[in-house]
Amino acid sequence: MSPSSNRGESERILVRKQQPRAIIWFLLGMIGAVFASVALWWMVIEFWYGIHTFTFWFQHVIVAIAIGIQFYVVLHCRNAISLLRKRREVARAGSGRYKLTSFSFIASLLIIAGFTFIPRVNHVAIAPHLSYTGDPATTITVSWYTREPCETRLYLGISSHGLMNETVVSGNQRLHEVQLTGLSPNTRYYYNVSGFEGTWSFMTATGDTENLSFGVISDVHQEIHEMVVNGLLAVDPSFIINTGDLVNFGGWTGSWEKYYNGVKPLCTRYPMMTAIGNHDTMLGGMRNYKKFHAMPASSGTERYYYFTCNGVHFISLDLEWGIETFDHAQREWLIQVLDTIPEQDWLVVFNHCSHFTSTRFQEKTGMVDAFHSLFNKHDVDMVLTGHNHHFEILQQDTVTYIINGIAGHHFESWRAIEQAPQSLHVTCGKPGFLEIRVFHETTNITAHLFEENGQEITVSHLLER
Ligand SMILES: [Fe+2]
Repeated sequence: MSPSSNRGESERILVRKQQPRAIIWFLLGMIGAVFASVALWWMVIEFWYGIHTFTFWFQHVIVAIAIGIQFYVVLHCRNAISLLRKRREVARAGSGRYKLTSFSFIASLLIIAGFTFIPRVNHVAIAPHLSYTGDPATTITVSWYTREPCETRLYLGISSHGLMNETVVSGNQRLHEVQLTGLSPNTRYYYNVSGFEGTWSFMTATGDTENLSFGVISDVHQEIHEMVVNGLLAVDPSFIINTGDLVNFGGWTGSWEKYYNGVKPLCTRYPMMTAIGNHDTMLGGMRNYKKFHAMPASSGTERYYYFTCNGVHFISLDLEWGIETFDHAQREWLIQVLDTIPEQDWLVVFNHCSHFTSTRFQEKTGMVDAFHSLFNKHDVDMVLTGHNHHFEILQQDTVTYIINGIAGHHFESWRAIEQAPQSLHVTCGKPGFLEIRVFHETTNITAHLFEENGQEITVSHLLER
């Protein structure tokens, strides 16, 4: 037998050996590639509003990458089909030729599937948290979430040793909500919940017109800064406004558990009124946001709402990346609510995306064009936002805008700042929160900012009627 026929025979044996492995690799790679491609486009669509706020060239880079991967997937599938049709020729190329791409597709499929689905089935336990869903002087809602569906009980009293009032949340459910009504104004109540360790307390609002203090935090990103928690406890506000980005990826249920563990000293003691941030709805997070938060939906929807506390009016809007979520229904609702509020009353609007700003995004979001003249016309006193991770006070006409995205650990210190003409004060790179005290004729806004060594700096701003 000649050396060439020997070589031919050994190649045929090699091909026969390689064929089954090659087929498996191609098929696995094809399945992984198709899933990875679908997941990639899903993520591009999910982040599309965010991509809009990036620079023009960066949008194109992201879309080009997505199309490139899609194209590669098509080629990969064609090769797999060709393998099934003409086994010998393709198999001769050896399974190793496609091993790497198959590996990478399968790995990306597993990462995306794990990231998306595993956290959803990993049930969480969330300690009781408070919110206003009725008159803050007489009503408080307590919500909590159990790892497994079960019946739970809430015990309430006006002394920590006499929790005489029992409410049973019956049924086989994980989400538990109790609206406590008929409470006395300006009274401290104590409560605990079966299955959770600890007894907590809250104060009902006084009901005194235009005498109110509240705290404001934003952009916790699931890990609130310890100095912010301690600072708020020292200030002891009536309630707290949180203007969004509570977590990093709202679709990941575990993020909410982490967020609530961090804010537990606050949300068990002070009602927390929230606005939805762009990160809260990421990866299908709206479902979780609605599940874990009891807001006064009857005044609007679960996404945007209105309430009053001690005669001060509060409007929460769903503005995440910009005006993309400001649909016709929300606009109609906002105008209708603004029309009902007396001109002389204090009026606070809060939402996630910033309006005027000295850092990123302003020109891309469309916020100023959509809202400023409306706010100015309806005598909105202040607009509280986050999104940009710095602290800033801005004034345009009679409206004061405050950016306060500094309750977490990510700060905008690395961005070059060109101070906006409306800007009165900017601080970057420091965690902090706002303390706002409303009186009949004036409102005092105090920003509590913290140095790394814990030293506190305060910045004050006075609004006069
Ligand atoms: Fe943020």
